Amino acid sequence: MAEADRVEREPGSDRRTFLSGLLRGSLVLGILSALGGVAAYILPPERQAFNPGRLRLRVGRAADFAVGEGKQVLFAGEPVWVLRLPKGFVALSALCTHRGCIVDYDEERRVLECPCHGGLFDLHGNVIAGLPSRPLRHLRAEVVGGEVFLREEG
Ligand code: FES
Repeated sequence: MAEADRVEREPGSDRRTFLSGLLRGSLVLGILSALGGVAAYILPPERQAFNPGRLRLRVGRAADFAVGEGKQVLFAGEPVWVLRLPKGFVALSALCTHRGCIVDYDEERRVLECPCHGGLFDLHGNVIAGLPSRPLRHLRAEVVGGEVFLREEG
């Protein structure tokens, strides 16, 4: 019986069957891939534009800040000073508006000082001396559940 089966098959039929199956499989994959591309074009995934206003950064526990104390954090790649003032928290970009150096917070003098050209800012970001012509950029610092959070103003 087994010999009869061997006699009925043409030589190379196994290879042809394999190649034919491979071709059909490739064809099906190609069609599915094309349909996937068409479906993605017709029903694009929801896109979300980058919106820094949606970013929120936890800075730390409000109770851990003494009045007059500041902490520098990185928010969306920008250094920011978060300061605790008697009336609450203030968040200011640490980038000097003159040439973009990073300002230092002088806790004793209660000023933000630029090490590059000596620009001075008060604790609300206003220019009080030196070359900067614009105040420091404000961000929003808010206390929620005893934690200080930082986000874009607006
Ligand atoms: S970069 Fe700050 S004063 Fe010039």
